[in-house]
Amino acid sequence: MSVIHRLSDLLVNQIAAGEVVERPASVLKEVLENAVDAGARAIEVQLEQGGVRRIRVADDGCGIDRDDLALALERHATSKIATLDDLEQVGTMGFRGEALAAIAAVARTSITSRATGAGHAWRIDGGDRSLAPAALNQGTVVDVADLYYNTPARRKFLKTEGTEYAHCDDMFRRVALARPDVGMQLSHNGRVVHRLPPGTPAARIGALMGDDFLQHAREVSAEGGLLRLTGFASLPAYSRASRDAQFFFVNGRFVRDKLLTHAVREAYTDILHGSRHPAYVLFLDLDPAGVDVNVHPAKIEVRFRESRAVHQFVYHALKRVLAESGAGRIDTQAAVPSTPGTGFGGAANTLRYTSAERPADAASSSYDSARPWPSSTPPAIPRQGQLAMDSASRAYLDFAASARPPAGGAPSAGMPAAAPRPLPDDGDGAPPLGFALAQLHGVYILAQNRAGLVLVDMHAAHERILYEKLKTVLDGRPSVQRLLIPAVFSVGAKDMAAAEECSEVLAALGFDVGAAGPQELAVRSVPALLANAPVAELMRNLLEELREFPASDVVTARRNELLATMACHGAVRANRQLTIPEMNALLRDMEATERADQCNHGRPTWTQLTMGDLDRFFMRGQ
Ligand SMILES: Nc1ncnc2c1ncn2[C@@H]1O[C@H](COP(=O)(O)OP(=O)(O)OP(=O)(O)O)[C@@H](O)[C@H]1O
Ligand SMILES: [Mg+2]
Repeated sequence: MSVIHRLSDLLVNQIAAGEVVERPASVLKEVLENAVDAGARAIEVQLEQGGVRRIRVADDGCGIDRDDLALALERHATSKIATLDDLEQVGTMGFRGEALAAIAAVARTSITSRATGAGHAWRIDGGDRSLAPAALNQGTVVDVADLYYNTPARRKFLKTEGTEYAHCDDMFRRVALARPDVGMQLSHNGRVVHRLPPGTPAARIGALMGDDFLQHAREVSAEGGLLRLTGFASLPAYSRASRDAQFFFVNGRFVRDKLLTHAVREAYTDILHGSRHPAYVLFLDLDPAGVDVNVHPAKIEVRFRESRAVHQFVYHALKRVLAESGAGRIDTQAAVPSTPGTGFGGAANTLRYTSAERPADAASSSYDSARPWPSSTPPAIPRQGQLAMDSASRAYLDFAASARPPAGGAPSAGMPAAAPRPLPDDGDGAPPLGFALAQLHGVYILAQNRAGLVLVDMHAAHERILYEKLKTVLDGRPSVQRLLIPAVFSVGAKDMAAAEECSEVLAALGFDVGAAGPQELAVRSVPALLANAPVAELMRNLLEELREFPASDVVTARRNELLATMACHGAVRANRQLTIPEMNALLRDMEATERADQCNHGRPTWTQLTMGDLDRFFMRGQ
């Protein structure tokens, strides 16, 4: 009594479609990739009702021969690979020979195609597989209508037209970003949405991501051995609340890969707050034999043979580009938002300078000789007790005095990347950020340098400095400040547990924390750099972060995030009056700190308004 039977071809294909054809966007992906594989120079996509009603893709590629048309719709039939060897170094988007079969099993599909050199085109019906002569100049038109018309259970999972369209749009962008050399057009319900002529990668990226992205991105171009990373990655000021502007391509294939995502995230850790996401379009190219693309039917995952090497390469390539001290490249468009009506924002908005322009800028300033430059003024740090200071200001001073690297001081072992890189100076020994003039509303420091006026966000700048110092100091044994009176505060059960579980981690960071009651914690010592930080607030925030991750994870992967939290709470707060010497000390520390032009959350820490800018604003000499 046999109970096992073969499934019909249609059912087999419908099962396969479950993996390959998740929604209209996945149909679009497969059909677009086929067009690209066919060597198309121009691809036109027409969608109706989010792609559910119709997806029609026309290309000018090599076409399909009449005799191959039926095979193209068969499962396990492909022109792209023939042997295992081919599979192991596949250079085309497709290779499984199943996409069209799966699509034809769940939608009314037809293919019209004219193979190069053929007298005319042929059209095959994906349902009854009938062939008929057709009119078409060149290439292939794949028409997919009424998705899931015969599988109502699947149809129920489709979302609204708007959502399905958005997914299709995203898919179109992926292919378009990967192939700027191919002209592409997308229309939805008869309206053209994207019209992209063939062009350079930058032009294509600009067209799809916006020029704004390009303006706030760094170009990446790195090569190492057989690996190559190119593209654009946003500066922190352009960060996003979601991951939707992240495109990573491996050998031209859009992928979502944990390893690569992690490498990118790591490269941003020091300059981007954990809750913000960078935007990027990155292309990793390597020998096809070094990457397995046959991991999942949708081919969105890959596996690298040398995964560690790939991770390190991507991480370092990006990190290098991002860590370049952008001090001379601050974009005041980002730094000073245009505020209609204030005028000042408008003037600042016309201003962008690069380090190359700066000396010339300064040299042409008529103020040079008229105003003596106080180049010999040493940045004085007052002795304690000399001035009346509130505790936060003193905290800064203590920090400034204690954390200054010793003369000729090498950064502590294990932190080669954190060696302070001074901002470029103007050649006459004058400090690039100049000397403090005043504090504005307890928030900004105004300083005068050779070029003109420097505005510094006091908290943001101090936070960055503190963060970099903490990293260096905590790499060795943190110097610890015992509190005369332990800070005791109440916490919830989860925080109590976290404090207990992570006591070792906290000790390594310089905190001595213990239970003072069933719902109370006592902090007895803190890292010396944070001697004056609000302890309870700082500890609550740290515990909240520690709770999120297993302790083993925290020490390695999360360490810098913890340090960022510590720096944020340790940095001088708004409305603290700083003295001129304290402000000067802060400026000097900024100059000596790598990445000092962005705070840990990616906001700019300072900006420059040159005399030229001010003259223009006041229309002097016009
Ligand atoms: N637009 C096209 N132009 C020329 N040939 C095409 C086109 N679309 C499909 N083909 C041919 O039809 C075959 C089957 O396409 P299908 O997408 O089903 O499989 P595949 O691309 O080989 O592999 P995969 O299932 O991984 O996509 C392809 O191998 C190719 O020869
Ligand atoms: Mg294919």
